[in-house]
Amino acid sequence: MKGTYRILIGITGGIAAYKVPHLIRLLKKKGAEVKVVITKGARGLVGEETLRTVSGNPVYSDDLSLYDMDHIRLSEWADLFLICPSTANTIAKIAHGIADNLLSTLALSIPETKLMLSPAMNTVMWENQATRNNIQTLKDRGISVLPVGSGELACGVCGEGRMIEPEQIAEVAISFLGKSDILKGKKVLISSGPTEEPLDPVRVITNRSSGKMGAALARQAMLMGADVTFVSGRACHSLPSGVKVIDVVTAEQMQTALCEHFKTADICVMAAAVSDYRPVNYFSDKIQRNENGNITIELTPNPDILAGLGKVKGNRFLVGFSLESSAGVQRAIAKMEKKGCDMIIYNRAETSLGLSTNRVTILGKDGFCEELPVLSKDETARIILQRIAERLIGAHA
Ligand code: CTP
Repeated sequence: MKGTYRILIGITGGIAAYKVPHLIRLLKKKGAEVKVVITKGARGLVGEETLRTVSGNPVYSDDLSLYDMDHIRLSEWADLFLICPSTANTIAKIAHGIADNLLSTLALSIPETKLMLSPAMNTVMWENQATRNNIQTLKDRGISVLPVGSGELACGVCGEGRMIEPEQIAEVAISFLGKSDILKGKKVLISSGPTEEPLDPVRVITNRSSGKMGAALARQAMLMGADVTFVSGRACHSLPSGVKVIDVVTAEQMQTALCEHFKTADICVMAAAVSDYRPVNYFSDKIQRNENGNITIELTPNPDILAGLGKVKGNRFLVGFSLESSAGVQRAIAKMEKKGCDMIIYNRAETSLGLSTNRVTILGKDGFCEELPVLSKDETARIILQRIAERLIGAHA
């Protein structure tokens, strides 16, 4: 663990703001240095003098006379910007890039992988579709959004929406910071999404991969401090700034990009769903309907990119995915050996393809086998990368 973690706490106008001085104490006990930024709405809910005293630092707000550094310097200072409580309004502003006070300006100027929000609001607001969408947007961008608790709310009703307790927030914040160094200095190359093989100017052969697993791996690798290159087929992905994205279309383009970046990589994870075949002929004019019956398209095999990388892998840690449509751990293990991988992630089409969750088994060439439950793709990615990091540390110990 590195020396002192620098945590910037952002307080917005939720009644749970009164719990923040206790949270600051807990974080300081765990060795963190804490600074506080507060919105106008929160100023009546928690004493600024208390915050100043427990944090041992000035409290920053929209009141210009309280600034002693600009927002850029404050965001550069922080290892983590923890917004708690985070109101529905602030969540919406961050989701849409609105910077209309010091706190939301800071949220926009700090790398998103350093952002963590602990929401607190009334149950109806928590369940509102706009809030659900905003939270999903934040999660897709790699921002940590903590769960809410349920119980009695300030408005008198019982339900979901309470800020979780300061003890839990402190625990998560410190372990988040502790984890973020685990892949520091490592170059991680990730392939993702489907490939497309053109038949004619309007038609392609492709598959149903959404690219969500690859994007989750990229986000989590960034959170762990890695230098991430992301080679992606056509897929919608929201990635934190800082990930180097290389867009490709066909399997051959993907192979060229991966071979180039593999040279300098420490870890390569092939999460892409590569087309095994491509049409022998590309028709430069749109293929016309054959009024007389069937047409035949001849396909030729694409290169097996992973197997090719396995042959030149050297000391790099190479991970493949094995998507099977029926139970097939043995097939996945055979694939790992055949393609020269150190690890293979076995999953089933019905519990992964296009979904936001995944259910995988991590298999290592050292005999390691870990069956994970159904988890979000981000959580699955985090565990996969942690297992990779443990093996790398083991190899150099
Ligand atoms: N893969 C690859 N190049 C290909 C096909 C697959 O690099 N032409 C990679 C995938 O990215 C994945 C792994 O190989 O990491 C396994 O892919 P999968 O489609 O499950 O297996 P296949 O190699 O296609 O084997 P099979 O068709 O026998 O299932």
